[in-house]
Amino acid sequence: MTDVKPGMVQRYKLAQRVVHWLGVGSFLILLLSGLALLVPQLAFLAAGGLSRVFHRIAAFGFMLMPIVYVAIVPHDALELLKESFTYTLKDLKWFKHMPAYVLGSTKGLPPAGRINPGQKIHHAMTFVMFVTVAGSGLALWFGQSALGPEGLAIVLSVHDLSMLGLTVLMIGHMYFTFLYGALPAMTTGFVTEDYARMEHAEWYESLSPQTVAMTESDDQTAA
Ligand code: HEM
Repeated sequence: MTDVKPGMVQRYKLAQRVVHWLGVGSFLILLLSGLALLVPQLAFLAAGGLSRVFHRIAAFGFMLMPIVYVAIVPHDALELLKESFTYTLKDLKWFKHMPAYVLGSTKGLPPAGRINPGQKIHHAMTFVMFVTVAGSGLALWFGQSALGPEGLAIVLSVHDLSMLGLTVLMIGHMYFTFLYGALPAMTTGFVTEDYARMEHAEWYESLSPQTVAMTESDDQTAA
């Protein structure tokens, strides 16, 4: 049963939240085990080759994430992909308010859809770097001997830069999550109506009155 409280609307289904946190878990293991291989001061973590094993297991989980997403909630996965790469002139107006938004002000912020333009950029760049980190990782895993010294240097650079990019994106993503109190969207799956109106006014307006009424009064399983 979903724990439904008055004044809340559902933002993410259970399946979406499970995939997200599995992705976060595998990403953090990849980052730590990768740093152990890269940074001499952390070499003690790589002793005995354990971090290599962790890195490969986590890489498998990380690459599985989009496949699982598409397999269990194909409509939501495609919606995320489509929205992340669709930009309109309205988004430009939103970006003009970005400096104030970064500082915690939503005053005058144009109404956003299900994902706001900042999130679109984050998600789109995450997809791109997911592809480059996974592609270069697979090349290092299975094709290292065929790369040659120059090829190896290029693939390693792509791999490390992609991971750096994903880390910077994650820090920004966490900053906005905590600045605007968005965490419940990915923990309980629900946000307050006030939050939905403030951050995603167009999306909130597009919800059918029945959906809002249902999440306000019923305890039906919406996940
Ligand atoms: C501890 C770190 C993280 C926290 C606290 C966090 C938090 C969140 C929250 C609250 C949302 C929902 C925002 C909304 O209302 O739309 C979200 C969505 C999302 N996050 Fe994270 N996140 C973290 C790490 C990551 C990482 C590492 C990635 C990518 C590798 C990531 C990728 C995404 C994506 C793609 C979405 C959209 C999900 C969907 O539409 O299904 N997150 N995150």
